[in-house]
Amino acid sequence: MTSTNIATRDRLIVALDLSSVEAAEALIDRIGDSVTFYKIGYQLAYAGGLPMVAKLADRGKKVFIDLKLHDIGNTVAKGVESIAKQGATFLTVHAYPQTMKAAVEARAGSSLKILAVTVLTSYDNNDLQQAGYRPGVADLVELRARQAQAIGVDGLVCSGEEAANLRGIIGAGMNLVTPGIRPAGSDVGDQKRVMTPARAIAAGADYLVVGRPVVAASDPKAAAEAIVAEIAQAGG
Ligand code: C5P
Repeated sequence: MTSTNIATRDRLIVALDLSSVEAAEALIDRIGDSVTFYKIGYQLAYAGGLPMVAKLADRGKKVFIDLKLHDIGNTVAKGVESIAKQGATFLTVHAYPQTMKAAVEARAGSSLKILAVTVLTSYDNNDLQQAGYRPGVADLVELRARQAQAIGVDGLVCSGEEAANLRGIIGAGMNLVTPGIRPAGSDVGDQKRVMTPARAIAAGADYLVVGRPVVAASDPKAAAEAIVAEIAQAGG
């Protein structure tokens, strides 16, 4: 079950996976009021995109900084303090207990929410074993979700397939943020496990992260509106 206190339009997070600030700003202008929440990841952040966080926040948009922090606690804490001052809404960290604790403590008193990435969706059991882990993906996702909850992390990034299971483990209190969304009939690209917006909401996702189906659409505004309509229809 998805959380009920989120405005339908705010559930769509458009990933600004673009190579320049100019391209990102042009897209945001084209989309106008149809999207309220944007994600800035490695590509745009390292192309000069971080100052866009404060600018977007000033324009009343919400911003998800997807930089998946992981370092010694002190460094994570200082980074989170700097990000919190820019007015971002979500920040991702890898779901290691030290990292999550440092991030949660450092965001206290701000409106920043910390999202934990349990196990990257490109990892399978074999990849984990090669990286020196004994548990498989399912067990590690569950362990880290429970640790995230105990530490007070605000939400988890998870695939649509994981959402229902994780909702059962963590209950209603944490946000589930789900990428790999493809409206029926759209290109899958390199995503392996995709879900329609309606199915992801039904599976318990609170927020949907959508990149190419909006960013690469011939009419990004119309594509965003269609996804918002589908979210609404699914009861989100
Ligand atoms: O274009 P597409 O809709 O596939 O973009 C999905 C976005 O979500 C990208 O920014 C990608 O980095 C991000 N993401 C993902 N899978 C994860 C975590 C983040 O696709 N497990």
